[in-house]
Amino acid sequence: MVPRTKIVTLTQFIIQRQSEYPHAKGALTRLLNDIATAAKIVNREINAAGLVDILGSSGKENVQGEAQKKLDVFANDMFITALKGGGECCAIASEENEKVISFSNEFSELGKYVIAMDPLDGSSNIESNVSIGTIFSIYRRITEVGGGTIEDLLQPGVNLVASGYIIYGSSTMLVYTTGKGVNGFTLDPSVGIFCLSHPDMRFPEISNIYSINEGNYIYFPEAVKQYIKYCQQDDESSGRPYTSRYIGSLVADFHRNLIKGGIFLYPGTKKMPDGKLRLLYECNPIAFLAEQAGGKASNGFKRIMEINPQTLHQRAPLFVGSRRMVEKVESYIQKYA
Ligand code: AHG
Ligand code: MN
Ligand code: MN
Repeated sequence: MVPRTKIVTLTQFIIQRQSEYPHAKGALTRLLNDIATAAKIVNREINAAGLVDILGSSGKENVQGEAQKKLDVFANDMFITALKGGGECCAIASEENEKVISFSNEFSELGKYVIAMDPLDGSSNIESNVSIGTIFSIYRRITEVGGGTIEDLLQPGVNLVASGYIIYGSSTMLVYTTGKGVNGFTLDPSVGIFCLSHPDMRFPEISNIYSINEGNYIYFPEAVKQYIKYCQQDDESSGRPYTSRYIGSLVADFHRNLIKGGIFLYPGTKKMPDGKLRLLYECNPIAFLAEQAGGKASNGFKRIMEINPQTLHQRAPLFVGSRRMVEKVESYIQKYA
């Protein structure tokens, strides 16, 4: 094998980008590095699942009444610890915590940023060795002093400074955007460093994957049922029938669709009118990445990133992926509204 000689590490890449912002003082660089450090530790634990006692339920439930897995709790603790210790972040909202975690020590309260995160996404897949992820959103704080508050977190996606995910898959990747395109870094496990592997990620022009949990079909709105029918029709010119792929980890489903071209749908249903996915730490960060990769993210009527959040754990219907596919679903939803 020919050794690779040209390597751009995540840290180098962020610093190079930072030079494009004359007033930047490196805070965002340090914040992203803190996230990468926590991700590496979570990754180590995931890789050892089955060997160490990390699989299974923690015996507790989160605020949404969902059973917490041991890995949900471990990942949550790890990201909180890394971000608290880093000093750039003054508050966190997490799927696993009912309220905002405010860092009011003299070190962190000076932090200019707040983070919303899903520390472990797709946790129903942990036991079966299927890809899982971490999702994060970074906002500039609104309050000026002390630990961050809920006011700092309840910001629409259009205010995002950065967002990204880590996918713990056949390899581990960190994919992020600061609003200047999307870049992906693969963890080289032999040295424990994220290296640039997917520069300037864009949805491909030709897209033919749709991802939806069709087990819920009976509860879907008529518009979504009709769109699924459209996906399954025979039409050579538009590449239909499309291929159906659904993992059940938003990060993994989105990542595949970003690489191969496709749409992910989690609509509102009769049982859950706003769907399942959480606006602050699932929909918004993924929406920012989608838009930066030339795609689109919508709740059927408007841009996900323009929704004004009212509560920390609020949900939103999500249609995200290749632009034309999302526009097609929107046309169905608006027609049947
Ligand atoms: P989490 O593990 O953080 O609770 O998220 C699971 C989410 C998301 O990753 C996935 O797209 C969706 O739930 C799957 O839901 P269904 O099992 O209802 O399809
Ligand atoms: Mn999730
Ligand atoms: Mn989760």
